[in-house]
Amino acid sequence: MVKAARAPRPHKFPPEGKERLLSPERAQRLDPGFVVDLLPLERYHTVADIGCGPGYFTIPLGLALSEGQLYALDVQQEMVQACRRLVRRAKVPNVQVLRSEESSLPVPDGSLDGAFLAFSFHEAWDRPALLRAAVRALKQGGWLSIVEWNKEPMDEGPPLKERLSALDCLDLAEPIGFRLLDHALLNEQHYLVTFRLSERPAKRRVAAKKTPAKTSPAKRPTAKKAAARVGKAPAKTSTPRATRPKRAGQPSGRSRRS
Ligand SMILES: C[S@@+](CC[C@H](N)C(=O)[O-])C[C@H]1O[C@@H](n2cnc3c(N)ncnc32)[C@H](O)[C@@H]1O
Repeated sequence: MVKAARAPRPHKFPPEGKERLLSPERAQRLDPGFVVDLLPLERYHTVADIGCGPGYFTIPLGLALSEGQLYALDVQQEMVQACRRLVRRAKVPNVQVLRSEESSLPVPDGSLDGAFLAFSFHEAWDRPALLRAAVRALKQGGWLSIVEWNKEPMDEGPPLKERLSALDCLDLAEPIGFRLLDHALLNEQHYLVTFRLSERPAKRRVAAKKTPAKTSPAKRPTAKKAAARVGKAPAKTSTPRATRPKRAGQPSGRSRRS
């Protein structure tokens, strides 16, 4: 019997390029505070930033969790050290930076209110296993937010074959108990998809608008303003409306294919 060739593992972001992840040009395109404002987090939540890298989203997340706790996790030791340095410099006391395993998280089972993966999910070698690890770590009703590159050819970002669309995320997350809560196009290149852990499969189909994320950190919108820009009620106070990602070839409705 001929053995099927195993797909090559997606590559990890090289730690020597970590400064690029903290560059002001990146903040011009995708303001981390703007993204944090779109998450269904409460200031007392315990959250994991899975694949934190050098800490681009870690600082605004830690600040938003003023009465809560943040675990910043990464599989690469150099990223862990870089993130620790940034957290120390920014003096954010509620952040613990820890080395993570590929498909398991160094946090107690059922301890998290939320899990956040920014540009790390496509790098996971076993995506279903990483999601199962998130399920174990989350409380019932906990949220999971994924920020990723659109699965379209473009000059920047990971190779097309390593990317995953919002629909790919949905196909992986739904069967293990997540239901779609929000889907937002953040700019021309990136999307955010948010789920809630529930025992029942999703029944509702909901809609989102595309929104530019060109806000400077100085002009960071409040949660309410940010929510208005994606055409939804503030994530902190009500269930947002989201576009269910479409399959290729399906009419796209109000959303772009992502
Ligand atoms: C492209 S970087 C993004 C870092 C950060 N989230 C940001 O947006 O700046 C992806 C990071 O995810 C980490 N990563 C990849 N697979 C992971 C996994 N299975 N568990 C935890 N971290 C992972 C990589 O080591 C890398 O630091």
